[in-house]
Amino acid sequence: MFNTKNLSPNKLSLLTALFLSIPVSIAFYVVTKNIYAGIVALVVDLIGTYLLIRFVLESFIYRKIKLIYKFIYQTKASKREEMYYKYILPKKSIDEVRQDVELWAEERKEEIELLRNNETYRKEFLQNLSHEFKTPIFTIQGYVDTLLDGALENPAVNRKFLENASKNVERMVNLVSDLDEITRLESGEQPLYKENFLIQDLIKDVFETLSIKASARNMKYSIKKGCEQPVYVFADKEKISRVLINLVENATKYGRTDGSIIASVYKTDEHHVLIEISDDGIGIAEEHLLRVFERFYRTDRGRSRNVGGTGLGLSICKHIIEAHGQTIHARSTVDVGTSIGFTLDSKKD
Ligand SMILES: Nc1ncnc2c1ncn2[C@@H]1O[C@H](COP(=O)(O)OP(=O)(O)O)[C@@H](O)[C@H]1O
Ligand SMILES: [Mg+2]
Repeated sequence: MFNTKNLSPNKLSLLTALFLSIPVSIAFYVVTKNIYAGIVALVVDLIGTYLLIRFVLESFIYRKIKLIYKFIYQTKASKREEMYYKYILPKKSIDEVRQDVELWAEERKEEIELLRNNETYRKEFLQNLSHEFKTPIFTIQGYVDTLLDGALENPAVNRKFLENASKNVERMVNLVSDLDEITRLESGEQPLYKENFLIQDLIKDVFETLSIKASARNMKYSIKKGCEQPVYVFADKEKISRVLINLVENATKYGRTDGSIIASVYKTDEHHVLIEISDDGIGIAEEHLLRVFERFYRTDRGRSRNVGGTGLGLSICKHIIEAHGQTIHARSTVDVGTSIGFTLDSKKD
């Protein structure tokens, strides 16, 4: 079918010219009874009206549209712009121009939305940050003031108060180092140094590093039966070590006393490996499950603070795994246990 919606200015001029010149030339033929006169009238009329209409369209409508384009595509290279205005724009129908403008408006809307979200994000982050720092700072201040006010001379409490103050200093140090890490990860200035390595060896190293924490709660670390067969992955070993430390540390903190923490390794397909750290602890309720990867998100603030958490661990893990182009996810049942798993590329030759 003939589509009148997508007519370019040239076609539109031609069509209108035809509509005008056909009746005129027929009338001319009827009056003069001369077929040649009719044809000449048709040709002259057609060319004349076509040129006239095109001129009108060009100078009164398309020139204005060009201005609009110039305005909305301010950032385009000028050479390309020139080409665009000269050759492409005149071939576009008004409808296509409308689509272009709509697309532009949509893009701007998304941009504004993004900026607005960033702004909320930034505000929330600052709020969280000051909140996180406030508690240890005020606690330290409390202990120091009490010590200065006389407790220093009281051997029954002085050491205890200093130890408590020191614990809070440590919390702030952890917070700062986690923050430092997360900002570096977010700025993307940390390159990945990928290499092939045996994932089970790294898991064992991490178990070794955290063994004191495990024995303090009488927990057992192990690699799942059937997952011992050596599997090589291709990733940044140091960063993956950081991820594993965070996950095993969480499992140790939120796992059951006397419980067991099990690491499993599966080859999901030819190119991917899935690593999971599971515990049999308190678990995470469904409504928190997706949010635990957010910065500072904790299912139970009091508890997490007591066990020395900054609330940044899982969000650091997520950053690292996503930088590898992989995914991390959590499965959990309250009072049964939690499994946090992530994928990695398998060995590259
Ligand atoms: N293995 C787990 N079992 C139960 N809850 C967990 C587990 N791992 C993480 N969580 C929950 O997710 C929250 C976020 O974890 P994370 O970012 O590592 O912060 P942190 O360990 O500093 O509290 C924790 O505060 C806790 O509520
Ligand atoms: Mg943690």
